[in-house]
Amino acid sequence: MRMFFKGNRSLHPLLPQNYNFGKRRDTFRKTLALLTERKATTLLETGTARAGLKNCKSDGASTIVFGKWARENDAYLYSVDIDSIALKQAEIEIKNYNLSGHVHLKASDSIAFLKLFDQKVDFLYLDSFDYDKKDRSIQRKSQEHHLAEFKAIESRLHQGSIVLIDDHKLPGGGKGKLAIEYMTQKGWEIVMEEYQVLLSQKIIRL
Ligand SMILES: C[S@@+](CC[C@H](N)C(=O)[O-])C[C@H]1O[C@@H](n2cnc3c(N)ncnc32)[C@H](O)[C@@H]1O
Repeated sequence: MRMFFKGNRSLHPLLPQNYNFGKRRDTFRKTLALLTERKATTLLETGTARAGLKNCKSDGASTIVFGKWARENDAYLYSVDIDSIALKQAEIEIKNYNLSGHVHLKASDSIAFLKLFDQKVDFLYLDSFDYDKKDRSIQRKSQEHHLAEFKAIESRLHQGSIVLIDDHKLPGGGKGKLAIEYMTQKGWEIVMEEYQVLLSQKIIRL
């Protein structure tokens, strides 16, 4: 019997139809299409998904989404998180989904890790320092942290790189507010803007 998951915003066929990615589904889909089109091989994320696909609607389950894409496309995902307990949970989930060969976890402050990363980066996902919908001081710290992350890895990005930032359309401008201001001044363009924001280097047309 065929099963229908009415209203589910899934990432099928990458992931089973019963997982609902809600407000992130369309930006994830567009990102995955661009990764395929641009033949990305090195993916990097800040803020690891600790619960496998369980929190796909609330948190995004990014490590499984990009890890699965990496496994299917001969690519590698590097995921950094400061919380070693979260990383232990994430490691179990990554094994459950048979992604260990394509996902490398790192326990570190993201900025310190990004500064030392020595490969070119095709895709960057920024989703670390938690944002608060009300507290202006936490908003500012989160925005400054995400800007500092971008600056720490900027020299490893190239003309074909893409950047996705989570928790965007929120009061106070979201996690990426300062990073987006900086990036657009440097020639990056917004490709898609929803709950997440997707950016790419300006395409130079001759
Ligand atoms: C919103 S969660 C990540 C959610 C994940 N991307 C997902 O899809 O489920 C944010 C994570 O950032 C981590 N974090 C916070 N500050 C950090 C820092 N300075 N460096 C690295 N990770 C940090 C937290 O430990 C937390 O696990």
